[in-house]
Amino acid sequence: MRVTVTGGAGFIGSHLLEHLQTQGCQVQVIDNLSTGLRARIPAGTEWLEACITSPQAARAVSDFAPQLLIHLAAQIDLRLSVEMPAEDARINVAGTVAMLEAARRGGALKRMVLASSAAVYGVQQSHVAAESHPLAPLSAYGAAKLAAELYLDQFQRLHGLSTLALRFANVYGPGQSPKGEAGVVSIFAKRLGLSEPLNIFGDGEATRDYLYVSDVVSGLWAAAMHRKVLGAINLGTGVQTSVNELVDVLQSSAQKVAQVRHEDARPGEVAHSLLDAGLAQSALGWKAQVPLATGLTKTWSTLTTKG
Ligand SMILES: NC(=O)c1ccc[n+]([C@@H]2O[C@H](COP(=O)([O-])OP(=O)(O)OC[C@H]3O[C@@H](n4cnc5c(N)ncnc54)[C@H](O)[C@@H]3O)[C@@H](O)[C@H]2O)c1
Repeated sequence: MRVTVTGGAGFIGSHLLEHLQTQGCQVQVIDNLSTGLRARIPAGTEWLEACITSPQAARAVSDFAPQLLIHLAAQIDLRLSVEMPAEDARINVAGTVAMLEAARRGGALKRMVLASSAAVYGVQQSHVAAESHPLAPLSAYGAAKLAAELYLDQFQRLHGLSTLALRFANVYGPGQSPKGEAGVVSIFAKRLGLSEPLNIFGDGEATRDYLYVSDVVSGLWAAAMHRKVLGAINLGTGVQTSVNELVDVLQSSAQKVAQVRHEDARPGEVAHSLLDAGLAQSALGWKAQVPLATGLTKTWSTLTTKG
């Protein structure tokens, strides 16, 4: 199968590329290396260093004529999205539409999967958010992801394309950039390794649903395979963890004591985020497999092995 992966040199993308290799896929990567690394693209993989909004990227994707498009490339910095919403929308909305249209024009597209986010829900009105939760993003990043989801639906209605948006919880694991939504794990792990203090914004009781990257890869693959499943589906663990608890689990995984510093809470970030992953299980047969302690231990050991 011919697969285009945008953002393939990124954190999630590089883990996905490993999986696609094991499946014998013919892969094309589009990445401008803004946060991604060239070294993460396996030797022999067809790839283009270009912005997803550029005519070169659109042409390359149409010429490759993917059967599957997995769209991961994005401006992922939530705070930057609040400071520069137009730039965020240019990449995360217009860039998504450009890639979708280019893949469609290739003429062989069977499935498109978008990396969306729990950020589309905004302030949670219920303890756990199912897909039916009101969509009221707090950040420009969340608004852009929601707009991108609407374009998927529109392409599905107008062109009969099979599309699915996966709303990821906070993804973490080896190779993560400290800028992402769950960058807190990689920032804390790196700072703990250097014996530097961990900065907690607010009182540390803000909670997130932390999802290990291998679970995201299996979710993306399940989404790619279940072509009849359309719309938007959560990928999360259903387990809520506060920042204070995260620090505790990380300390025991690393067997190291952290110094903690508290700072003011930041705008655009919700206090609680927890996803109901029931639909992913019933529609895609997917369930998160990696508990937080195991995922943090793996993340920590990669960090210490690499020095
Ligand atoms: N990590 C998380 O917790 C999380 C949570 C929810 C959703 N997501 C989504 O998952 C996707 C992947 O995230 P990630 O954590 O791997 O981030 P990442 O920054 O590691 O990867 C993004 C990749 O896209 C590339 N890229 C960025 N802008 C580009 C552009 N304009 N043109 C071409 N390439 C571009 C980057 O160079 C990078 O390789 C993103 O769409 C993100 O919004 C991530």
